Amino acid sequence: MIHIRIANREQIPIIVAEHLRKQLERKPDSVIGLPTGSTPLMVYREIVAQHKKGKIDFSRVITFNLDEYVGLDGKHVQSYKYYMYKNLFRHVNIDLNNTHIPNGVAENLEEECRRYDQLIEQLGGIDWQLLGIGLNGHIGFNEPGECLSAVTHVQRLLEETRIANARFFGSLQDVPTHAITMGMGSILRAKKIVLIATGQEKAKILAKAVNGPITTRVPASFLQLHQDVTFVLDQAAASAITRLRNDSCEFAH
Ligand code: F6R
Repeated sequence: MIHIRIANREQIPIIVAEHLRKQLERKPDSVIGLPTGSTPLMVYREIVAQHKKGKIDFSRVITFNLDEYVGLDGKHVQSYKYYMYKNLFRHVNIDLNNTHIPNGVAENLEEECRRYDQLIEQLGGIDWQLLGIGLNGHIGFNEPGECLSAVTHVQRLLEETRIANARFFGSLQDVPTHAITMGMGSILRAKKIVLIATGQEKAKILAKAVNGPITTRVPASFLQLHQDVTFVLDQAAASAITRLRNDSCEFAH
């Protein structure tokens, strides 16, 4: 069931940080799945603020990031390893040994993907997964296409995704062509999922994800199959969500 919460942009990080706080209150050693990109930045800032107030404790938390660019090591400023350290990990009391991000410069990428899945499984799977959504409906870097992969895999990035992410790199040619991404299986096996999105440009794809048919052409539409998903959206992002499909959605304004 997809719950939809529509909130002011400024409220979104507060709602998500509270969601995480409650999760860690229930299970302090939760395994949490994390995204990168521009949307989560405000959430990470709020989580850090809550941590500094003593409300969120990361001492027993284990994290798995959704993805990493192939070819960028952790020192590259656009690597997701760098992003996570800069925006979250260095500000909170997490043990860095408990933070996991696919290694985009592993000698054997296929082996790295298998290692990542095994580790997620060994540690009990994801308890709480935060997601963003790409303009084309990707979650993690599971790109739309003929088929989706259940397991962690090397994904060729679609041109539209590289163009969307060129804003971080300065030029399109600097955007890596491939990424390692957690597969749809690990994401959908997460016990709880929170997806965040803001802005008019995400409205169309969110309507497809929520109202449209479940299709590999819109990877986020598979979230309709999950038991416990909350979309936290601003008004603009939610503006094209028109009807509730099979009673599977609830509006909680
Ligand atoms: C990145 C990830 C992607 C982003 C998506 C939206 O780790 O999981 O699916 O969430 O590309 O990115 P922004 O927030 O920059 O629009």
